[in-house]
Amino acid sequence: MHRRRLLQGLSAGVMASVATPELARARAQLEQAAAAGLDWRLALADLDADVPRTPMRRISGHAPSGLAGSLYRNGPGKFHRPGGSAGHWFDGDGLMRAFRIEDGQATLEARFIDTPKRRADTAAGAVVTVGFGTPARPGAIVRSADDANAANISVIPVGGELWALWEAGSPTVVNAGDLSTKGIKTLRPDLAHMPFLAHPRPDPGGDIWNLGVSGQKAVVWRVGRDGALRSASLVDLPMASYIHDFSATTRHLVVVLQPWVQDRNFQTYADSMTWRPELGAKVLVLDKTDLSRRRVYDLPAFFAFHYGAAWEEADGTIRFDGCLTTDPSFAIETGRTIINGIWSPEAAVTLTMFALHPDGRAVIEPTGVAAEFPRTDGRMSGAPRRYTIHATAVGGSPLFHGLAVHDWKTGRSDRYDFGPAHLVEEAVFVPRPGGAAELDGWLIQPSVNLRAKATELHVFKALHVAEGPICTWRADRALPVSLHGAFVPA
Ligand SMILES: [Fe+2]
Repeated sequence: MHRRRLLQGLSAGVMASVATPELARARAQLEQAAAAGLDWRLALADLDADVPRTPMRRISGHAPSGLAGSLYRNGPGKFHRPGGSAGHWFDGDGLMRAFRIEDGQATLEARFIDTPKRRADTAAGAVVTVGFGTPARPGAIVRSADDANAANISVIPVGGELWALWEAGSPTVVNAGDLSTKGIKTLRPDLAHMPFLAHPRPDPGGDIWNLGVSGQKAVVWRVGRDGALRSASLVDLPMASYIHDFSATTRHLVVVLQPWVQDRNFQTYADSMTWRPELGAKVLVLDKTDLSRRRVYDLPAFFAFHYGAAWEEADGTIRFDGCLTTDPSFAIETGRTIINGIWSPEAAVTLTMFALHPDGRAVIEPTGVAAEFPRTDGRMSGAPRRYTIHATAVGGSPLFHGLAVHDWKTGRSDRYDFGPAHLVEEAVFVPRPGGAAELDGWLIQPSVNLRAKATELHVFKALHVAEGPICTWRADRALPVSLHGAFVPA
C-alpha cells in the first residue's frame, strides 16, 4: 500500500478509532471547542493583503520597563488561489510580521515576502509552483530552487537586515524597517540557490553555522555576523533523511538523521520520502574545526522537526533536547489537510533529552511532556543550560494552547494553559537589560484568540510562567499563526 494512502487511512480511520485516553480527551475537547463556537480554522486562514503598522490595544497588565524592540516572525500566510491552492501548510506564501514594543505600547504590521514564487502564483491566479507538498501546475517556471523558494519558515537578524529562511534554497533579505523585500542572498556565486536550512546555530563568537541538505549530501555553511560567507564545505550524511533542524555545541555540529528518507525522485518533496522505522535514527557529530572528524550514533526510530541547543559535559558527553514523536503523519498528511479545515488528533510530540556518550552509546530520555517549538536562552549557546522553553497543551485543535519552561534540574514544568480559545505560537526569550542569569527576562508569545478573533501578544516573566501573562496586547484582526521568530532589542 502506498505510504500516503496508509497514513490517510491511519489518520482518518485507525487513529480515530484507537481509544487511548489522550485521543479520547482530544476528541472531547474538539467537540467542546466546536460547541463553544471556537473555530481553529481562523488561525490557518489566508491573509489577503499586507497589514500596515497599527497600534495594538493593551487589554491587561503592563509592559515591564526595559522591554523594547521588535519581534519579527515568519510563517506561511496565504494558501488558496482561485485556480488551485497550496497542498500543504508549509507551502503558503512567506508572511513577515513585526510586533514592535516601545514605551509600554505595541504595534503590529505584516507584509508578504516578494518572492519569485509569489509573483508567479499571483500572475497565474493559482499556486502553480512546486513546494514541500504541492505539485507543480502548468505555467510553473522553476529554473532553480529559488524560483520555488517560499521564504516562509523563519527569520534571523544578520548585519542590520533580516534574512527570511526557507530550507531548500537561499535566504531572502528583508528590510527590518518596512519589511520590504530586497531579494535573494547569494553567499558565493558558485553556490547560488543552494539549500540553507531555516534553523542556523550561532556560536558564542557570533558566527552562524548552518546546513543545506540535498539527499545524502549536506553543505556546512559558516557565515560571519555581518552576513559574509566564511566557509562552505560538503559532507556526506549516513542517510538521506528529512533534516529541518540540527544542534551544535561550541566544538561540534550535531545532525540528527531520522528514518523519513528520500528514496525516489518524485514530486513533491514530501512524496519522495518514505517512513522506514526499521532503519532507526542516527546522530552524526562533526568537529567544527575539521569536518572529516566524525562520529555516528545509533538510536531507535523517531520523527522530529526541532532540537534545542547542545552542550558538552566534562566527560565529553553531548546533551541536547528535541521534540519527538513516533509518527511522522503531521509532516506527511496533517500539514496537507489543516489548511482545508480538516484535522484529527495526532500522536503526542514529547520533550526528550539526548545523551551521546564518549563510549559510543546514545540514549534518549523522554519527559512525557507535550512540546514543540523549543527555544533556549540564546546567551547560553554552547554552554550547559538548565531550561527549555516550549509550546505545550494539546487538544481540541491542531497546534498548542499553552506555554511551558522545562527545568532539567528538577524535572518540573512551569506551565500556563490559555485553554482552547487560544492557539499559541512559538515563544521567544528576551533578556532583561543588565541581567545575566539564565532566563532572567521575559518570554513574548503571540496567540490567536479564537473567541475575540484577534491576534494577541503576551509577555511572561520567564521563570514564572504559571503566573500567566503580565501584559497582553490585542490587535484589531487575526493573522495566521507563524512558525518562528527573533527579537531584536531597540
Ligand atoms: Fe522549524
